[in-house]
Amino acid sequence: MIIDTAQRTKQTSEYYFSVKLAEVRKLIAEGNDVINLGIGNPDMMPSQKTLIALSEAAQKPQAHGYQPYVGTPAFRNAIAGFYAHTYGVQLDPGSEILPLLGSKEGITHISLTFLDPGDEVLVPELGYPAYRAVSQMVGAIVKEYPLLEQEGWQPDWKAMESLVTPRTKIIWLNYPHMPTGAPATRQLFENAVAFAKKHQILLCHDNPYSLILNKKPPISLLATQGAKDVAIELNSMSKSHNMAGWRLGWLSASKAYVNAVLTIKSNVDSGMFWAMQEAAVTALKNSDAWHTERNAVYQGRLDAAEALLNALGCTWDQKQEGMFLWGKLPETVVSAEILVNTLLIEKHVFIAPGFIFGPKGQRYIRLALCMPKERIWEAVKRIKD
Ligand SMILES: Cc1ncc(COP(=O)(O)O)c(C=O)c1O
Repeated sequence: MIIDTAQRTKQTSEYYFSVKLAEVRKLIAEGNDVINLGIGNPDMMPSQKTLIALSEAAQKPQAHGYQPYVGTPAFRNAIAGFYAHTYGVQLDPGSEILPLLGSKEGITHISLTFLDPGDEVLVPELGYPAYRAVSQMVGAIVKEYPLLEQEGWQPDWKAMESLVTPRTKIIWLNYPHMPTGAPATRQLFENAVAFAKKHQILLCHDNPYSLILNKKPPISLLATQGAKDVAIELNSMSKSHNMAGWRLGWLSASKAYVNAVLTIKSNVDSGMFWAMQEAAVTALKNSDAWHTERNAVYQGRLDAAEALLNALGCTWDQKQEGMFLWGKLPETVVSAEILVNTLLIEKHVFIAPGFIFGPKGQRYIRLALCMPKERIWEAVKRIKD
């Protein structure tokens, strides 16, 4: 007999990739050459200067003890500098920034900080699965808000009005949007802030993709007039700096929100390795040319990924930004699940089915651009064969 789990564990399913990647690993262990276009795990290196900074900092005697719960002052200053340079947003490094172990962690801390059981959370009908899963874990009620495909997957603000109740506490937003690649616009952010203010809802914007294949200068929700009254923005080194495994991210918000989240977070972890924070200071100063070069590599992969969608008879929106390509299945494909499983078993090509991001994704697939372009072209060849 084993000891029973909590209701929360029974109601939560294991993360799709946690299950599916075990299958991929099994195929690889059996000697198969699997091309993994499923998960958004950047395969390129952090900048060389970042790696040198890490190894130098790790040699210092002061590197190995516990670090401040609020991150090192140098890391917070570097984040403030990055926000000023990248988005033109001024943040007080002393009070408006809270380093995190990646933005995924931030979703949990924000939910624990602001949600009581029975509170309601608005999540996009297609989006990062953690918004929904974590809200449910803390006993909140999830309501999906519609995205308008014909309007570039923008939130349907009118429909959202009817979802608000006195218990609505948080709305999750993420542009550039994962998985559809819909870009962020200033108008969208203005609408979001106005909506959150009108209904007194905490607006949580998740912003990890603003620097990946962006077609115009990146923007932050916090550049919107009045945003700091109602908003928290998550950001991360994972995608923009090729540092996903390091687990480095942060949230930016007014002092009151930062302090509230810190109340919870300081009871959960005990800071991050000093050498990593030192290296992140260096990474955050990567030149604009470094980001442009990284995007040129992604562009080459995007071309190959478009050829792959063509080979599958899919259609897609050219305006997409971010690290993925979102494609609509042709009528001839019966289901995304069958297609994904067939491609994995018969062609050893792994792609993500759209339904893992919400039921609206049934007729879609998502390709991650995290393989060298030659590997994506190899996948195209296998599929055409
Ligand atoms: C929309 C979105 N938010 C958050 C994350 C988590 O990123 P991090 O590595 O910063 O925890 C991801 C990762 O795939 C994502 O796609």
